[in-house]
Amino acid sequence: MELTNRINRIQVSPTALVISAAEQLKAKGVDIADFGPGEPDFPTPDHIKKAAIRAIEENRTKYTPTGGIMPLREAIVAWHNRELGSNYTAKECVVNVGGKHSIFNAVCVLIQNGDEVIVPAPYWVSYPDIIKYAGGTPVIVPTRAEDGFAAKAAEIEKAITPKTKMVIINSPSNPTGGVVDGDEFKRILAVCTKHNVWLMGDECYSHFVYEPHKPFSIASAPDSKDRVIIVGSMSKTFAMTGWRIGYTLAPEPLVQAMVKIQSQSTSNPTSIAQYAALEAMRGSMDTVPVMLAEYARRRKRIVEGLRQIDGVTCEWPGGAFYAFPNVSAHLQGKDAVAKSCTELATQLLEKAHVALVPGEAFGAPGYLRISYATSLERIEEGLRRLSRFLARAEAAI
Ligand SMILES: Cc1ncc(COP(=O)(O)O)c(C=O)c1O
Repeated sequence: MELTNRINRIQVSPTALVISAAEQLKAKGVDIADFGPGEPDFPTPDHIKKAAIRAIEENRTKYTPTGGIMPLREAIVAWHNRELGSNYTAKECVVNVGGKHSIFNAVCVLIQNGDEVIVPAPYWVSYPDIIKYAGGTPVIVPTRAEDGFAAKAAEIEKAITPKTKMVIINSPSNPTGGVVDGDEFKRILAVCTKHNVWLMGDECYSHFVYEPHKPFSIASAPDSKDRVIIVGSMSKTFAMTGWRIGYTLAPEPLVQAMVKIQSQSTSNPTSIAQYAALEAMRGSMDTVPVMLAEYARRRKRIVEGLRQIDGVTCEWPGGAFYAFPNVSAHLQGKDAVAKSCTELATQLLEKAHVALVPGEAFGAPGYLRISYATSLERIEEGLRRLSRFLARAEAAI
């Protein structure tokens, strides 16, 4: 079948592939230690669920304004101001169908053939494909494990060319948990301002940061508004991945262009989910520190457990809920367990029944992404299987 060049430029998200392979095995009754999914294992908080039920009962089930209901846009900018120190108006906010949709639409309205977008690696899987779909070229700038995988302004500046249109910074990062500290982020903003380049801040994990880090938005920096595009999401902070609500904060003409593309594609995000998000933005945030405390316990266990495995190194993730161990020692020499992490991840799934995502998906060969959004008990089991498999034990399960 002849498909367009633009669809042939991209691939199915590798994380989705891992999740579906693990699901197939689970459907056959196989007990999988599942480190695959990038989503909280906590339920959506009750007060948010109740708001959605109320919305249905009150028949709030019709089309809404394309860019989201005005009370939600107002609540998002108020929440962002309160939590992260920005200063937007509702006209500078558009509600999207999840943070991925926010990034997709923002990139589609700003990037075209010949444009370059700087993406620090390891990167979230979708950035390069979204950029390519829009006709742009991703320019990958490596970060270092010794720096906690945090992007550095000086490295970004070296990659800027006359074609550069945008820099994307995801802090805390999926897949590394790397956090760019506020001062460095401001230096990156200064580089973007100097070179007249957009700075996109993907804040989907903003509230999952571990001591000594604090939630930070580059939109809190003075004079950032003309230069910065903020992408946020209900998915992780409020355990609402399935509800599909994200948002973009940006200069009004950009927001209007994003509403235009939305008006000819998805239309409004689901009305009921918008009312749930309204409650998330206005209601109690008590569940967030509870989830964070549990992630912190799991982070400690998983990092310590991984560090005990021969040939594995692992940094402390500063945020999010992913560990990103380096297993390259197991891929070298005549004793190599596999030739690549992609091959290793397949073997781990099939032979040890451990699901995780290979580093190649994030531009980081030699690494594995382990989501610890799963119980401590499953973390113990997964660690046990992983260490037996890497010790070349006969039966890893
Ligand atoms: C870094 C990052 N950005 C954006 C998203 C998009 O999340 P959603 O579309 O569920 O809001 C994700 C989801 O995994 C992510 O990890």
